[in-house]
Amino acid sequence: MKLTLAPMESLTGIVFRRRHHEIFGGADLYYTPFVTPTVKPEFTERQMKELSPERNAGMSVVPQLLTRTPENFIWAAKRLAEMGYPEVNLNLGCPMGTVTGKGKGSGFLRHPLELEEFFERVFDAGIPIRISVKTRLGWADDAEFEDLARVYSRFPISELIIHARVRKDFYKGSPRRAAFEAALPRLPMPVGYNGDLRLVGEIREMESSHPGLSSLMIGRAAVANPAIFRMAKGGAAAGRDEITAFHDALMADYTAAFGSVGNTVGHMKQYWFYMKNLFEGGDRLFKALLKAKRASDYEEIVRRITKELPIREEPAYGWWKPA
Ligand SMILES: Cc1cc2nc3c(=O)[nH]c(=O)nc-3n(C[C@H](O)[C@H](O)[C@H](O)COP(=O)(O)O)c2cc1C
Repeated sequence: MKLTLAPMESLTGIVFRRRHHEIFGGADLYYTPFVTPTVKPEFTERQMKELSPERNAGMSVVPQLLTRTPENFIWAAKRLAEMGYPEVNLNLGCPMGTVTGKGKGSGFLRHPLELEEFFERVFDAGIPIRISVKTRLGWADDAEFEDLARVYSRFPISELIIHARVRKDFYKGSPRRAAFEAALPRLPMPVGYNGDLRLVGEIREMESSHPGLSSLMIGRAAVANPAIFRMAKGGAAAGRDEITAFHDALMADYTAAFGSVGNTVGHMKQYWFYMKNLFEGGDRLFKALLKAKRASDYEEIVRRITKELPIREEPAYGWWKPA
């Protein structure tokens, strides 16, 4: 069963992916955060920073597309095939209003007939690589999945990765495991599970209770604990030197990418929302970290966090609440 890194916009892009692979490894596959192809049949320079095969060399990467327009999906998938990617993924899960308002992401799940037409066009277009789909169980109610499963089953989707929530759940509450399990017998293609796998024990439990799944996809927990894939394969927990090296490499790469350290501090704070849960205590330091504006203040606080605070083997309750 593959263990894959979830696509997470602004978190798991090219910078994170390269450094994660280099320092911790262990993920069998990395999904890019969504890329939106437009009517102009060319990726922009910015999109190419994410997609260029040279920058992704050495890793197994699946680019993810966000669109409801078959023509746009088709040119983009063919272009990705030319670039050497063996697979492309369609985003049917994004819950953001700006995306769903245009009928994209999980907004597409409200229109199963239109979705069926989309797939008819896409699977008829001679795209020479695998097409996988990342979906939720529905928009407002997981009973909607019955219709969606009927649509998905009609097409040669290479893998259906299910984030076991509906759009109205956003990222909160427990995943709908019962609805996920009920859906499995209806799906002829390989199925992957996604949603709230946070600890190695939870990954193991899923592997042993659902041996038929093709993959387990891990998102937020891999930002909190970048060694999670390695640990799930029997390797070591994240060490202090590794965490420091990882942080410093992200900081340096983002500073180079943004062209200034100013925007980097704000960006790095997003990572700390998850990563802080791997450290014991340090409430005052993390509060100060959130307030820090100047790069020198930020770096000084990070230095103290990574040098002084005890590191846990696995993250504590943080972005989720105890059951
Ligand atoms: C900040 C953030 C950005 C995300 N961006 C994407 C995205 O670009 N494409 C996508 O399919 N899912 C995206 N997701 C959803 C994740 O891929 C994943 O489905 C979700 O976080 C649940 O998995 P987890 O509990 O392992 O984190 C995003 C989630 C978060 C929190």
